[in-house]
Parts: sequence; structure tokens; C-alpha cells
Amino acid sequence: MRDSRETSLTKAFVCGHPIKHSRSPKIHNYWLRNFELHGHYEAVDVEPGNFAGFISALKSGESGYVGGNVTIPHKERAFHLADLPDDLAKELGAANTLYMDRGQLCATNTDGYGFLSNLDEQAPGWDDTRNIAVVFGAGGASRAIVQAVRNRGFREIHVLNRTVGRAQELADLFGPRIHAGPIDALVERMAGANLFVNTTSLGMDDSGAFDIDFTPMAESGLVTDIVYVPLMTPFLSQAKQQGRRVADGLGMLLHQAVPGFEKWFGKRPEVTAALRSLIVDDL
Ligand code: ATR
Repeated sequence: MRDSRETSLTKAFVCGHPIKHSRSPKIHNYWLRNFELHGHYEAVDVEPGNFAGFISALKSGESGYVGGNVTIPHKERAFHLADLPDDLAKELGAANTLYMDRGQLCATNTDGYGFLSNLDEQAPGWDDTRNIAVVFGAGGASRAIVQAVRNRGFREIHVLNRTVGRAQELADLFGPRIHAGPIDALVERMAGANLFVNTTSLGMDDSGAFDIDFTPMAESGLVTDIVYVPLMTPFLSQAKQQGRRVADGLGMLLHQAVPGFEKWFGKRPEVTAALRSLIVDDL
């Protein structure tokens, strides 16, 4: 007799609202095909009013999913509704990855992992000094990145934001190594910086960036951007012209997907050049 596990389809989701532009199904279904696994990953549009019901059906097993990703606007609710959020999710108050384990809904946040893994891959040695990082923006994406860079051991992290109060919230949350400031402070805080990250949507689709002088950074300093449409954003091209190393943001999206896939489907996938070009062709 065949084991029923051999034939049953393992299903995972990405849920958000809206969700139709998500690239996650393409990434996970590519890995499923490569491993020849009997699984499927699908995008589900869940309006905020239906999210609690969606999570109940996940917990009870009724929905048939083993877990999934959550994205805007559900990351905070996902954390609150989980039975077992891990320390990363607890500190952020937000989760992007859910999985069932022995009847309990576990939650984590893999954005920081994705961010660091992308830099490790594209710019080996970028964190050799772990000295000064400048993070532009203080929204949801910035939180996970500030947490990750702090956990990597950076000595000073400057969070500069149009609304300084939001940057200050991050400084209060993540501890004494985090320093808040206004955008005007960029000039002075860039001195000797080893990392600059744009976490705002400025530059997306070639709109609305401004000029930055990257030359005060450390010579080996790295500039990266969470925007990946276009891949070479205005901030990255300025930095490159000024002789700085750059790493684009697409790898963050690809790498943040790795831990979830492993939890749901039992294999650790790789971020390969083939996967990258599959997604780039679609941008
Ligand atoms: P996300 O969750 O994707 O990070 P968010 O929470 O809306 O999105 O945060 C967007 C970030 O981009 C914020 O830091 C925002 O600055 P404010 O906190 O002052 O709103 C920043 N941002 C968006 N548009 C901007 C602009 N035109 N100039 C400067 N910063 C901008």
C-alpha cells in the first residue's frame, strides 16, 4: 500500500491584500519543480476583515495548508495570532512566515535573514569591520533590517527618516547602538560608514530619488537598496558612479523565501543564478 503522504499535495500560501503582484509563487514553485516535490504554493488575497478566519482555518487544518508567508497588511496581525512567535518576530511585533508544528502555529520573520544573506552572497566581506551603518527610512522594512544589522554586531546604526519620530521609535526599540536623525543628517552620518541601505520606496520605477554624496563613506563601504524595480536604482547608480560597491535588492526577496520553503517542504533550496534570471525576466 502506498503511504498517503506520498500522494497528498503539500500546500503553502502567500497572503496579503493586494497580492497579485507577489513574485513569491514563482520562486517557491520553481524550487518545488526543481526538487520534484508534490507541492504547490499559491497567492491568496485576504482582506483585513477575513484574516483572523484565514488563520483559524490554517490552525484547524481545514484550509489544507502547512503554512505560508504573510505580507502587507497582515504582518502584525500574523504575529499576534500565532501560538509560538520566535524572538525575532516578538521583537519586531511582526511575522512574515508561518508554519504549523505539532498543532501549534509558529511565526518568524525572515526579512532580516534575507537582507543579510543577499549581502553575504553579493558582497563577501561587506561586514568585516561591523562599524557604522546608515539606514535611510524607518518603516516596516527598515525595522527588520535594523534588527538584522544590529544582530550582526554593527557598532553604530544611524536611522535617518523624514519623520524623525519614527526613527526614534526604532532607536528606542532596538537599543543604544541605534541613533535616530533627520534626512539632513545624512551628510554628517555618512562619514566612515561601512553600509548604506535605502529602505524607502524612493527610486522605485525610477521616480523620486535625490542626490546623495557617498564619498564620505569608508572606501570599502557597501550601498544597497530594498527597491529592486529597477534593479539598478537611482541610489545604486549614484553610488556606483562615485566608486562605491553596490548590491541590488532582489536577492533579499529570494533569500527571505529560503527558511519558509525548508519548513513547509522539508528541503533547503538554493538561490541560484537561474532563479535570479527567472525573476529578473519578469520584473
Ligand atoms: P515599508 O513597510 O515598506 O517600509 P512604510 O512603513 O510605509 O513602508 O515606510 C515607508 C518609508 O519610506 C518611511 O520611512 C517613509 O518616511 P516617513 O516615515 O517620514 O513617512 C519613507 N518615505 C516614503 N516616501 C518618502 C519621501 N517622499 N521622502 C522621504 N521618505 C519617504
